[in-house]
Amino acid sequence: MNLLLYGAPGSGKGTQANMLRSHFGIPHIATGDMLRAEIAAGTPLGQKAQPILAAGKYVSDDIMIAMIRNRLTQPDSTLGFIIDGFPRTIPQAEALDTLMGRLRRHFDRVLYLKVDTEELLRRLSGRLVCPQCQRTYPPGTAACEADGSALVQREDDKAEAVKPRIEIYLQKTIPVLDHYRGENLVSEIDGMGTIDDISRQVLAAVTPVVKTKTA
Ligand code: AP5
Ligand code: MG
Repeated sequence: MNLLLYGAPGSGKGTQANMLRSHFGIPHIATGDMLRAEIAAGTPLGQKAQPILAAGKYVSDDIMIAMIRNRLTQPDSTLGFIIDGFPRTIPQAEALDTLMGRLRRHFDRVLYLKVDTEELLRRLSGRLVCPQCQRTYPPGTAACEADGSALVQREDDKAEAVKPRIEIYLQKTIPVLDHYRGENLVSEIDGMGTIDDISRQVLAAVTPVVKTKTA
């Protein structure tokens, strides 16, 4: 099962990916989480990426393509994966097509979480994250359910970074959806309901894939 989660900043990709990871036992590959881990570890890549993320801009295609290539060739990806946050530009989408071809894999579904801009702004301004495992939580959550860590605000959820993130998504990432619509892979999910409602829609969208694979 190879799934791609697509949607604007704050649309719920990380939230639904956690559910899918628990449900199917396949890794959640999130390029934003990978970049934040590099920043936390103070690696040369992390030092380069930190001001870019803080400003709400995109890290270069070359860096991101190399990162996803390394990740998809790790042994834990052989049973499948849930990609979140990649591809964000047309060159990334084309590079991913080439990589998937080389790995003899294909995407079973692209799950597009569709959420109004006003709701995105509301969610991002209140979001809390676990600095250890990167799980995301709504406002008011006391501690991480997985490891008990105290939750923090993400640097790019500060007001000055949120607007540029949404603008660059509209400019560079919206065209990526058409790339997958052409292949008839996109399931459009109404991302405006409760987390549980959306999880039900996401699971319903992948059910035909599960049936095909177990038939
Ligand atoms: P990334 O980490 O991917 O951030 P993003 O795309 O901006 O998305 P978010 O993680 O902010 O939102 P989400 O959709 O995961 O929502 P969540 O589930 O947390 O990337 C960060 C940065 O890294 C980028 O800006 C860029 O700089 C760089 N980067 C990463 N990949 C790159 C690439 N490929 N190329 C170039 N640069 C790259 O939910 C949000 C909040 O809402 C949470 O509090 C959650 O609890 C809550 N929530 C979720 N669902 C619901 C619901 N149904 N109702 C109410 N609240 C909800
Ligand atoms: Mg996320």
